[in-house]
Amino acid sequence: MAEKLRIDKLLAHMGFGTRSEIKRAVKQGKVAVDGKVVKDSGLIVTPDEHTVTYDGETVVYRDVIYLMLNKPQGVISATEDGRERTVIDLLAPEDRLLNPFPVGRLDKDTVGLLLLTNDGGLAHELLSPRKHVDKTYEALVLGNVNEDDVKAFQEGVTLDDGYVTLPAELQVLNRSLSPRPEGSTADSSGDQSSPVHSLIRLTIREGKFHQVKRMFEAVGKKVLTLKRVSMGTLMLDEYLPEGHYRELSGDEVEQLKAHRGSGKK
Ligand code: URA
Repeated sequence: MAEKLRIDKLLAHMGFGTRSEIKRAVKQGKVAVDGKVVKDSGLIVTPDEHTVTYDGETVVYRDVIYLMLNKPQGVISATEDGRERTVIDLLAPEDRLLNPFPVGRLDKDTVGLLLLTNDGGLAHELLSPRKHVDKTYEALVLGNVNEDDVKAFQEGVTLDDGYVTLPAELQVLNRSLSPRPEGSTADSSGDQSSPVHSLIRLTIREGKFHQVKRMFEAVGKKVLTLKRVSMGTLMLDEYLPEGHYRELSGDEVEQLKAHRGSGKK
């Protein structure tokens, strides 16, 4: 059944002011439904069926929001915090109206794909440990990530708390020797060689605290930078600079919803 609601509630919901400001706007004849000026701010409307205008402009009603953020470093994945800047602080005021929240957490120093929505059902499904939704990360790792690590990740590694991870797919994209700073000779272990860095892509199907960093620690390596590039069917838009966000397309929302029930057990 189509949703019905009071016109002052609808307009407040869409950011046109407080209920009392809207009452005033109605008195001033600024609000119309299907072309007729409204006299009563308590009028019940069905957003799907009625065309509401404010100052002559059509009001597009919606109650869900889906945003893709390319999270930058230095902000935390929370809705509010007394001390730290949160991902919600990156949103324009009109995009905060529907109270989106981050679906899962990325560490403060992790960048990349973060879905923000107020669709609690979808968030729950994407985060449910039983659904095993794929999350893919790219990382710069200090150390020579090799075939032994690929095999270990495939079989599951034991984290510092004894937890054994589910099979994960590790791919080495590139390896490089970093030049030693001029004048330096050996490192503290007396090793004369330059440290090797590996650029990797890793897909995990769970979301333990600091999981990617701890998986590399388990094989004696250190994650230097970490970026999430996909979650389920949703891929980070390569044209979205860090710190920027955009609404999901209809297709992206549909694919996420279709996928949520199909996680590998
Ligand atoms: N794994 C981590 O270690 N950190 C993140 O932010 C996400 C996954």
